[in-house]
Amino acid sequence: MRILVAGGAGYIGSVTVDLLQRSGHEVHVIDNLSYGHQAALSSETAFDVADLSNGDAIKAIAEAFQPEAAVHFAAFIAVGESVVKPDIYYRNNVTNAQNLLEALRLTGGKYFVFSSTAAVYGEPTAIPITEDHPIAPENPYGHSKRMFEIILESYDTAYGIKHVIPRYFNAAGATETLGEDHHPETHLIPLVIQAAMGQRENIKVFGADYDTPDGTCIRDYIHVEDLAQAHLSALNYLADGGASVKLNLGNGAGYSVREVIASVERVSGRPVPVVEAERRAGDASRLIAASDRARTILNWTPKHPDLDDIVRSAWDWRQKHPDGYEG
Ligand code: UFG
Repeated sequence: MRILVAGGAGYIGSVTVDLLQRSGHEVHVIDNLSYGHQAALSSETAFDVADLSNGDAIKAIAEAFQPEAAVHFAAFIAVGESVVKPDIYYRNNVTNAQNLLEALRLTGGKYFVFSSTAAVYGEPTAIPITEDHPIAPENPYGHSKRMFEIILESYDTAYGIKHVIPRYFNAAGATETLGEDHHPETHLIPLVIQAAMGQRENIKVFGADYDTPDGTCIRDYIHVEDLAQAHLSALNYLADGGASVKLNLGNGAGYSVREVIASVERVSGRPVPVVEAERRAGDASRLIAASDRARTILNWTPKHPDLDDIVRSAWDWRQKHPDGYEG
Protein backbone atom coordinates (compact mmCIF):
# COMPACT_ATOMS: atom_id res chain seq x y z
CA MET A 1 0.00 0.00 0.00
CA ARG A 2 1.13 3.59 -0.63
CA ILE A 3 1.08 5.33 2.75
CA LEU A 4 1.65 9.03 3.41
CA VAL A 5 2.99 9.45 6.96
CA ALA A 6 2.89 12.89 8.58
CA GLY A 7 5.22 13.21 11.55
CA GLY A 8 7.15 10.16 10.40
CA ALA A 9 10.46 11.49 11.79
CA GLY A 10 9.09 11.64 15.34
CA TYR A 11 9.23 9.03 18.10
CA ILE A 12 6.26 6.77 17.35
CA GLY A 13 6.18 7.82 13.69
CA SER A 14 9.73 6.72 12.93
CA VAL A 15 9.28 3.30 14.55
CA THR A 16 6.08 2.81 12.57
CA VAL A 17 7.67 3.95 9.28
CA ASP A 18 10.48 1.43 9.80
CA LEU A 19 8.00 -1.41 10.40
CA LEU A 20 5.78 -0.43 7.44
CA GLN A 21 8.82 -0.38 5.14
CA ARG A 22 10.05 -3.75 6.41
CA SER A 23 6.55 -5.12 5.79
CA GLY A 24 6.72 -4.15 2.11
CA HIS A 25 4.65 -0.96 2.13
CA GLU A 26 5.61 2.11 0.10
CA VAL A 27 5.96 5.00 2.52
CA HIS A 28 6.33 8.73 1.92
CA VAL A 29 7.14 10.82 5.00
CA ILE A 30 6.20 14.46 5.61
CA ASP A 31 7.75 16.13 8.65
CA ASN A 32 8.60 19.77 9.38
CA LEU A 33 11.42 18.58 11.71
CA SER A 34 10.24 20.94 14.45
CA TYR A 35 10.32 17.97 16.83
CA GLY A 36 11.24 15.10 14.52
CA HIS A 37 14.77 13.97 13.64
CA GLN A 38 15.98 13.31 10.13
CA ALA A 39 18.41 10.80 11.65
CA ALA A 40 15.38 8.71 12.63
CA LEU A 41 14.68 8.02 8.93
CA SER A 42 16.70 5.64 6.79
CA SER A 43 18.46 7.25 3.83
CA GLU A 44 16.17 5.34 1.42
CA THR A 45 13.00 6.85 2.89
CA ALA A 46 11.07 9.16 0.55
CA PHE A 47 10.84 12.31 2.62
CA ASP A 48 9.70 15.92 2.27
CA VAL A 49 10.41 18.60 4.84
CA ALA A 50 6.95 20.13 4.77
CA ASP A 51 4.55 21.70 7.23
CA LEU A 52 0.95 20.57 7.41
CA SER A 53 -0.12 24.21 7.70
CA ASN A 54 0.73 24.53 3.98
CA GLY A 55 -2.30 22.81 2.49
CA ASP A 56 -1.21 23.44 -1.12
CA ALA A 57 2.20 21.87 -0.54
CA ILE A 58 0.66 18.81 1.14
CA LYS A 59 -1.80 18.41 -1.71
CA ALA A 60 1.00 18.62 -4.26
CA ILE A 61 2.90 15.88 -2.42
CA ALA A 62 -0.25 13.73 -2.36
CA GLU A 63 -0.90 14.37 -6.06
CA ALA A 64 2.58 13.10 -6.89
CA PHE A 65 2.49 10.11 -4.50
CA GLN A 66 -1.20 9.08 -4.86
CA PRO A 67 -1.48 7.64 -1.34
CA GLU A 68 -4.08 4.98 -0.56
CA ALA A 69 -3.74 5.79 3.13
CA ALA A 70 -2.50 8.57 5.39
CA VAL A 71 -1.21 8.22 8.94
CA HIS A 72 -1.07 11.25 11.23
CA PHE A 73 1.60 11.47 13.98
CA ALA A 74 2.30 15.18 13.57
CA ALA A 75 0.53 16.54 16.65
CA PHE A 76 1.71 18.65 19.56
CA ILE A 77 1.57 16.43 22.66
CA ALA A 78 2.31 18.39 25.83
CA VAL A 79 -0.77 18.62 28.03
CA GLY A 80 0.54 21.50 30.17
CA GLU A 81 1.62 23.57 27.17
CA SER A 82 -1.82 23.11 25.61
CA VAL A 83 -3.43 24.82 28.59
CA VAL A 84 -1.38 28.00 28.13
CA LYS A 85 -1.13 27.91 24.31
CA PRO A 86 -4.45 26.50 23.10
CA ASP A 87 -4.17 28.49 19.85
CA ILE A 88 -1.25 26.44 18.54
CA TYR A 89 -2.80 23.16 19.73
CA TYR A 90 -6.08 23.66 17.88
CA ARG A 91 -4.33 25.01 14.79
CA ASN A 92 -1.79 22.20 14.53
CA ASN A 93 -3.76 19.25 15.88
CA VAL A 94 -7.06 20.10 14.16
CA THR A 95 -6.70 22.59 11.28
CA ASN A 96 -3.34 21.33 10.01
CA ALA A 97 -4.38 17.69 10.43
CA GLN A 98 -7.39 18.47 8.25
CA ASN A 99 -5.03 19.62 5.49
CA LEU A 100 -3.61 16.07 5.43
CA LEU A 101 -7.10 14.57 5.39
CA GLU A 102 -8.13 16.91 2.55
CA ALA A 103 -5.01 16.03 0.55
CA LEU A 104 -5.92 12.35 0.93
CA ARG A 105 -9.54 12.91 -0.02
CA LEU A 106 -8.80 15.09 -3.05
CA THR A 107 -6.35 12.54 -4.44
CA GLY A 108 -8.67 9.57 -3.97
CA GLY A 109 -7.19 7.95 -0.83
CA LYS A 110 -9.52 5.86 1.31
CA TYR A 111 -7.90 5.15 4.68
CA PHE A 112 -6.75 7.32 7.58
CA VAL A 113 -5.03 6.26 10.80
CA PHE A 114 -5.00 8.98 13.42
CA SER A 115 -3.04 8.91 16.68
CA SER A 116 -5.38 9.79 19.50
CA THR A 117 -4.92 9.56 23.23
CA ALA A 118 -6.22 8.39 26.59
CA ALA A 119 -6.50 12.12 27.36
CA VAL A 120 -9.89 12.15 25.57
CA TYR A 121 -11.37 10.32 28.58
CA GLY A 122 -10.30 12.84 31.23
CA GLU A 123 -10.28 11.62 34.85
CA PRO A 124 -11.61 8.06 34.56
CA THR A 125 -14.87 7.03 36.19
CA ALA A 126 -14.07 3.31 35.72
CA ILE A 127 -10.85 1.32 35.42
CA PRO A 128 -9.76 -0.28 33.12
CA ILE A 129 -10.89 2.25 30.51
CA THR A 130 -12.84 0.89 27.56
CA GLU A 131 -13.60 2.82 24.38
CA ASP A 132 -17.17 3.28 25.68
CA HIS A 133 -15.97 5.25 28.71
CA PRO A 134 -17.45 8.78 28.74
CA ILE A 135 -15.48 11.31 26.69
CA ALA A 136 -14.48 14.26 28.91
CA PRO A 137 -11.14 15.81 27.97
CA GLU A 138 -9.72 18.09 30.66
CA ASN A 139 -7.30 20.15 28.58
CA PRO A 140 -7.01 21.62 25.06
CA TYR A 141 -4.69 18.77 24.01
CA GLY A 142 -7.39 16.20 24.76
CA HIS A 143 -10.08 18.40 23.19
CA SER A 144 -8.02 18.87 20.02
CA LYS A 145 -7.65 15.11 19.62
CA ARG A 146 -11.35 14.56 20.19
CA MET A 147 -12.25 17.27 17.67
CA PHE A 148 -10.27 15.54 14.97
CA GLU A 149 -11.84 12.20 15.84
CA ILE A 150 -15.22 13.84 15.12
CA ILE A 151 -13.95 15.25 11.81
CA LEU A 152 -12.93 11.73 10.79
CA GLU A 153 -16.40 10.42 11.65
CA SER A 154 -17.94 13.07 9.37
CA TYR A 155 -15.54 12.26 6.53
CA ASP A 156 -16.47 8.59 6.82
CA THR A 157 -20.19 9.42 6.60
CA ALA A 158 -19.85 11.90 3.75
CA TYR A 159 -16.92 10.59 1.72
CA GLY A 160 -16.47 6.98 2.82
CA ILE A 161 -12.93 7.55 4.11
CA LYS A 162 -12.46 4.79 6.67
CA HIS A 163 -10.38 5.35 9.80
CA VAL A 164 -8.71 3.60 12.65
CA ILE A 165 -8.19 5.84 15.67
CA PRO A 166 -5.71 4.29 18.11
CA ARG A 167 -5.96 5.94 21.52
CA TYR A 168 -2.51 5.52 23.03
CA PHE A 169 -1.86 5.20 26.71
CA ASN A 170 1.79 5.85 27.67
CA ALA A 171 4.16 5.15 24.78
CA ALA A 172 7.60 4.07 25.98
CA GLY A 173 10.72 2.09 25.08
CA ALA A 174 12.89 1.94 21.99
CA THR A 175 14.01 -0.35 19.17
CA GLU A 176 17.65 -1.23 18.47
CA THR A 177 18.03 1.95 16.44
CA LEU A 178 15.10 4.29 17.20
CA GLY A 179 14.25 5.90 20.50
CA GLU A 180 12.59 8.73 22.40
CA ASP A 181 14.25 12.13 22.09
CA HIS A 182 11.97 15.07 22.85
CA HIS A 183 13.19 18.62 23.37
CA PRO A 184 12.25 19.53 26.00
CA GLU A 185 11.73 16.08 27.46
CA THR A 186 8.65 15.86 29.69
CA HIS A 187 8.03 12.09 29.80
CA LEU A 188 8.74 10.06 32.88
CA ILE A 189 10.86 7.14 31.62
CA PRO A 190 13.44 9.16 29.62
CA LEU A 191 13.70 11.66 32.48
CA VAL A 192 14.34 8.93 35.07
CA ILE A 193 16.94 7.39 32.75
CA GLN A 194 18.67 10.77 32.43
CA ALA A 195 18.70 11.04 36.23
CA ALA A 196 20.22 7.54 36.52
CA MET A 197 22.92 8.57 34.02
CA GLY A 198 23.74 11.72 36.00
CA GLN A 199 22.48 13.97 33.20
CA ARG A 200 19.91 15.38 35.64
CA GLU A 201 20.32 15.95 39.35
CA ASN A 202 17.16 14.07 40.26
CA ILE A 203 13.69 13.07 39.20
CA LYS A 204 10.81 15.08 40.57
CA VAL A 205 7.81 12.98 41.54
CA PHE A 206 4.77 15.10 40.68
CA GLY A 207 2.48 14.33 43.62
CA ALA A 208 2.92 11.68 46.32
CA ASP A 209 -0.56 12.12 47.83
CA TYR A 210 -2.77 10.53 45.17
CA ASP A 211 -5.31 7.91 46.14
CA THR A 212 -3.11 5.06 44.91
CA PRO A 213 -1.20 2.37 46.87
CA ASP A 214 2.07 4.36 47.01
CA GLY A 215 0.55 7.81 46.52
CA THR A 216 1.95 8.35 43.01
CA CYS A 217 0.15 8.31 39.64
CA ILE A 218 -0.40 5.06 37.82
CA ARG A 219 0.00 4.71 34.04
CA ASP A 220 -0.22 1.95 31.45
CA TYR A 221 3.13 1.91 29.61
CA ILE A 222 3.05 0.39 26.14
CA HIS A 223 6.14 -0.41 24.07
CA VAL A 224 6.56 1.75 20.98
CA GLU A 225 7.12 -1.38 18.85
CA ASP A 226 3.75 -2.70 19.96
CA LEU A 227 2.16 0.62 18.97
CA ALA A 228 3.84 0.40 15.54
CA GLN A 229 2.57 -3.16 15.10
CA ALA A 230 -0.97 -1.97 15.86
CA HIS A 231 -0.65 0.64 13.07
CA LEU A 232 0.49 -1.99 10.58
CA SER A 233 -2.42 -4.23 11.59
CA ALA A 234 -4.82 -1.25 11.40
CA LEU A 235 -3.81 -0.52 7.79
CA ASN A 236 -4.21 -4.19 6.84
CA TYR A 237 -7.61 -4.21 8.57
CA LEU A 238 -8.76 -1.17 6.57
CA ALA A 239 -7.44 -2.62 3.31
CA ASP A 240 -9.49 -5.76 4.03
CA GLY A 241 -12.65 -3.62 4.20
CA GLY A 242 -12.79 -3.07 7.97
CA ALA A 243 -15.23 -0.53 9.36
CA SER A 244 -14.03 2.66 11.06
CA VAL A 245 -13.12 2.08 14.70
CA LYS A 246 -11.48 3.59 17.81
CA LEU A 247 -9.08 1.35 19.72
CA ASN A 248 -7.38 1.75 23.09
CA LEU A 249 -3.73 0.66 23.00
CA GLY A 250 -2.23 -0.31 26.32
CA ASN A 251 -1.08 -3.39 28.22
CA GLY A 252 -3.87 -3.35 30.79
CA ALA A 253 -1.31 -3.11 33.60
CA GLY A 254 -0.68 -0.03 35.69
CA TYR A 255 2.63 1.07 37.19
CA SER A 256 3.12 3.93 39.61
CA VAL A 257 5.76 6.64 39.21
CA ARG A 258 7.71 5.03 42.06
CA GLU A 259 7.51 1.61 40.36
CA VAL A 260 8.91 3.11 37.17
CA ILE A 261 11.80 4.65 39.11
CA ALA A 262 12.47 1.28 40.79
CA SER A 263 12.47 -0.39 37.38
CA VAL A 264 15.09 2.06 36.05
CA GLU A 265 17.20 1.41 39.14
CA ARG A 266 16.99 -2.38 38.58
CA VAL A 267 17.75 -2.18 34.87
CA SER A 268 20.59 0.35 35.18
CA GLY A 269 22.04 -0.87 38.47
CA ARG A 270 22.26 2.78 39.53
CA PRO A 271 20.42 4.73 42.21
CA VAL A 272 18.05 7.51 41.12
CA PRO A 273 17.82 10.58 43.36
CA VAL A 274 14.14 11.37 43.94
CA VAL A 275 12.54 14.65 45.03
CA GLU A 276 8.87 14.86 45.92
CA ALA A 277 7.19 17.80 44.21
CA GLU A 278 3.75 19.34 43.76
CA ARG A 279 1.13 17.63 41.66
CA ARG A 280 1.27 18.54 37.96
CA ALA A 281 -1.92 20.20 36.72
CA GLY A 282 -4.14 17.99 34.62
CA ASP A 283 -2.75 14.60 35.74
CA ALA A 284 -5.29 11.82 36.21
CA SER A 285 -4.44 9.59 39.18
CA ARG A 286 -4.76 6.34 37.26
CA LEU A 287 -4.97 5.50 33.54
CA ILE A 288 -5.17 1.83 32.58
CA ALA A 289 -6.43 0.60 29.21
CA ALA A 290 -8.89 -2.11 28.39
CA SER A 291 -7.51 -3.08 24.97
CA ASP A 292 -9.79 -6.04 24.28
CA ARG A 293 -11.21 -4.37 21.19
CA ALA A 294 -7.76 -3.91 19.59
CA ARG A 295 -6.83 -7.46 20.51
CA THR A 296 -9.98 -8.83 18.86
CA ILE A 297 -10.32 -6.58 15.83
CA LEU A 298 -6.63 -6.31 14.91
CA ASN A 299 -5.61 -9.69 16.32
CA TRP A 300 -3.02 -7.63 18.21
CA THR A 301 -1.09 -8.79 21.26
CA PRO A 302 1.63 -6.64 22.80
CA LYS A 303 4.96 -8.48 22.53
CA HIS A 304 6.78 -6.43 25.19
CA PRO A 305 4.35 -6.05 28.11
CA ASP A 306 6.95 -6.30 30.88
CA LEU A 307 7.88 -2.92 32.38
CA ASP A 308 11.54 -3.87 32.92
CA ASP A 309 11.82 -4.94 29.26
CA ILE A 310 10.32 -1.63 28.13
CA VAL A 311 12.67 0.34 30.39
CA ARG A 312 15.68 -1.79 29.35
CA SER A 313 15.06 -1.02 25.67
CA ALA A 314 14.90 2.72 26.46
CA TRP A 315 18.02 2.46 28.63
CA ASP A 316 19.98 0.59 25.94
CA TRP A 317 19.05 3.16 23.30
CA ARG A 318 20.11 6.03 25.51
CA GLN A 319 23.48 4.37 26.20
CA LYS A 320 24.08 4.35 22.43
CA HIS A 321 22.75 7.93 22.08
CA PRO A 322 23.57 9.71 25.35
CA ASP A 323 22.54 13.06 23.90
CA GLY A 324 19.77 11.77 21.66
CA TYR A 325 19.83 11.83 17.86
CA GLU A 326 21.85 15.02 17.60
CA GLY A 327 24.48 13.81 20.06
N1 UFG B 1 5.93 12.48 36.11
C1 UFG B 1 6.67 12.79 37.23
N2 UFG B 1 7.83 13.50 37.07
C2 UFG B 1 8.27 13.91 35.85
C3 UFG B 1 7.51 13.58 34.69
C4 UFG B 1 6.34 12.86 34.87
O1 UFG B 1 6.30 12.47 38.36
O2 UFG B 1 9.33 14.56 35.78
C5 UFG B 1 4.70 11.71 36.30
C6 UFG B 1 3.49 12.44 35.75
O3 UFG B 1 2.97 13.32 36.71
C7 UFG B 1 2.57 11.26 35.43
C8 UFG B 1 3.53 10.14 35.02
O4 UFG B 1 4.81 10.52 35.52
O5 UFG B 1 1.89 10.86 36.58
C9 UFG B 1 3.64 9.99 33.53
O6 UFG B 1 3.89 11.26 32.95
P1 UFG B 1 4.29 11.46 31.43
O7 UFG B 1 4.50 12.93 31.23
O8 UFG B 1 5.39 10.54 31.06
O9 UFG B 1 3.02 10.98 30.63
P2 UFG B 1 1.50 11.45 30.75
O10 UFG B 1 0.75 10.32 31.37
O11 UFG B 1 1.34 12.77 31.37
O12 UFG B 1 1.13 11.70 29.21
C10 UFG B 1 1.05 10.71 28.25
C11 UFG B 1 1.33 11.32 26.89
C12 UFG B 1 0.30 12.35 26.56
C13 UFG B 1 -1.06 11.75 26.68
C14 UFG B 1 -1.25 11.11 28.00
C15 UFG B 1 -2.55 10.40 28.05
O13 UFG B 1 2.61 11.91 26.89
O14 UFG B 1 0.52 12.80 25.24
O15 UFG B 1 -0.23 10.18 28.27
O16 UFG B 1 -2.92 10.29 29.34
F1 UFG B 1 -2.01 12.69 26.53
